[in-house]
Amino acid sequence: MSIHIEGLERKLEETVKCWRDGWVGLSWRDYVIGHTKRVRNLVKVIGKSEGLDRLDILQLEIAAALHDITKEFEGLQAKTDGQTVKDEDGLYLSEMVLPVRRNDVVDRYFELYLGAEQSPTAVLHSKSGAKIAKWILLRKGLSQNYASEVAYLIKNHILPYDGIDKDRLFVMRQILKDADIIDSSFGLNTFYRTALYRVRKQISEGKPTDDVYDLAVSFFEHMYEPTTNLDGSSKDCWVNRVGNSIETDIRTTTAKAIAQKRHALMAKYGARLEAEIDTGTKNGLMDMVVYFMQNHADPNPRRDFTEARKLYTANQDVRIFCDISLSEIDCISF
Ligand SMILES: [Fe+2]
Ligand SMILES: [Fe+2]
Repeated sequence: MSIHIEGLERKLEETVKCWRDGWVGLSWRDYVIGHTKRVRNLVKVIGKSEGLDRLDILQLEIAAALHDITKEFEGLQAKTDGQTVKDEDGLYLSEMVLPVRRNDVVDRYFELYLGAEQSPTAVLHSKSGAKIAKWILLRKGLSQNYASEVAYLIKNHILPYDGIDKDRLFVMRQILKDADIIDSSFGLNTFYRTALYRVRKQISEGKPTDDVYDLAVSFFEHMYEPTTNLDGSSKDCWVNRVGNSIETDIRTTTAKAIAQKRHALMAKYGARLEAEIDTGTKNGLMDMVVYFMQNHADPNPRRDFTEARKLYTANQDVRIFCDISLSEIDCISF
């Protein structure tokens, strides 16, 4: 078998770039390109540590490279008359976002889902991505069985687990899902994305964004402070909730350890932010968050971490924060 994963990554990149630059749904267009590279690296690290053989790790890398290839079709969560919309399996659907250019993947999507251009909702990207990935791999000459296994991994990357089967493919499925969760919910890049999404949400609700420091404080509160529900009960903060999900949502020992380490970092910087807000510290982490938020129209974490490190270089917390974030982006450390 001969396959170049870099070629698959180029196909993913070409497909993502069929959409307009800027925000698509909960993240910016190019987020998927960086996320895909990081998930590929994570499945390699987790797969090796969990004792998978070289060929299974290669197959996981292929699944990782293609797992979100149809993600850009999905915008914000779809609602009809204020109610969320679900598919036939009870999974939440997103608003359809149409590309502004076409390539063979986009053409194939519209062939598979006739009428999709007029549909208010997109097919769940794990399901459409599985079909597209299988089609790509068969065209590259891979066997039906091999392509079907990759499709299985992709189809299941956001679905809840069913059964307790421990066969080879089930273990691989756990690893892809774990890697996907780690990159989307744990680490300092998640911190960046959540900060920017705060501004995006504000704009989508027609609320003002001129007081960016205030928005940075509201981001801190969302991440690190409990809220009170309408019935008076208390809801834990976001960082604690994802911390609690490590035991329930992440399966492999290696992935749990990576998530714990990254979660500890998110918690540590929350405490530093709180101290800065209390003391009114200037040119520190809060100003870094403000700087990120000011660039919300055109997010680019590599550019922003590099620039923030120069702007607030006198502050050790900012320097270390940016260095760790850049090493996450480049998959140097986990
Ligand atoms: Fe996904
Ligand atoms: Fe993903």
